[in-house]
Amino acid sequence: MSQIKKNKIICVANQKGGVAKTTTAAYLGAALARLNRYVLLIDSDPQCSLTYSMELDEAQQEKAQENNLATMYETGSALEPCLIKVRDSLSLIPGAAELMMSEVALDTNAQNSEPERLLKNALVPFAHRFDYTIIDCPPSQGMLTLNALVAADYVLIPTVASTISLTGLERMIEQVHEIVHGDLALNPELAILGVLLTRFRRDRNVELEIEEKLRSLPEEFHVFRTVIPDRSQFGLLGELKAQTGRHLMELSMVSYSLLPYLTLAMEVEKLLLPKTALRQPLDK
Ligand SMILES: Nc1ncnc2c1ncn2[C@@H]1O[C@H](COP(=O)(O)OP(=O)(O)OP(=O)(O)O)[C@@H](O)[C@H]1O
Ligand SMILES: [Mg+2]
Repeated sequence: MSQIKKNKIICVANQKGGVAKTTTAAYLGAALARLNRYVLLIDSDPQCSLTYSMELDEAQQEKAQENNLATMYETGSALEPCLIKVRDSLSLIPGAAELMMSEVALDTNAQNSEPERLLKNALVPFAHRFDYTIIDCPPSQGMLTLNALVAADYVLIPTVASTISLTGLERMIEQVHEIVHGDLALNPELAILGVLLTRFRRDRNVELEIEEKLRSLPEEFHVFRTVIPDRSQFGLLGELKAQTGRHLMELSMVSYSLLPYLTLAMEVEKLLLPKTALRQPLDK
């Protein structure tokens, strides 16, 4: 195991659709795994894009159909049987379309006294088995996202640089504030790890202006220095490569798509490394 002992749970969330939540969860997870961290990915979206992006083999797909995150929400069963090893240091708890039903049931079923804490409780056995757990959320503020935010230590908020996305970002930050400081104190420990600009185009003035605006926000909203460029910035090569579906763990470390996420992974590590680990030991 690496030097970070306690599993850091990062929830990737924004109720705005198509802002690269799933891409960020998959690539950041792969990037951290490539830096020799043990990573658990959790697909908490009924669209299951994260699960699909892992390109599971047939046996793994069958396993994922039988045991997935929805099974835990529906039956209260443990997450252990859901665990799929994608690569040595990268594991997945798959999602399923049934998560849509879980969302409704969690909202309406009065039998669960703490329906927003089910994921948090289910993750307790994994506390020391991974360096990072990354949860991909659906584009909504419902019970699936709430469970992820209650289970998480940190929230990473991807956003594209458009005026309409800033409104979504404000709402997301309000939800986090409510979870941390609200009367229910659902997760007082939750912190914003950072806002991540994705699909960013430096050739558009409006995007540069929005970046500047975000960077002038108070420090607590921390905007990552790393920015994920839009693939179109890589020209035809980027467009073509985006469609090859090559497995994330086999991509070249300097591939156009993995490289920005490796930079992000290093930025995340720097932010989360325990301060004591940064101190130099005394020689004498
Ligand atoms: N850097 C990028 N450049 C260009 N396209 C990108 C980039 N990152 C992601 N995309 C594309 O943008 C689309 C949305 O990405 P993704 O599915 O990751 O977003 P999402 O926030 O998870 O969406 P949803 O809200 O539906 O879950 C996808 O087609 C994805 O391939
Ligand atoms: Mg998604």
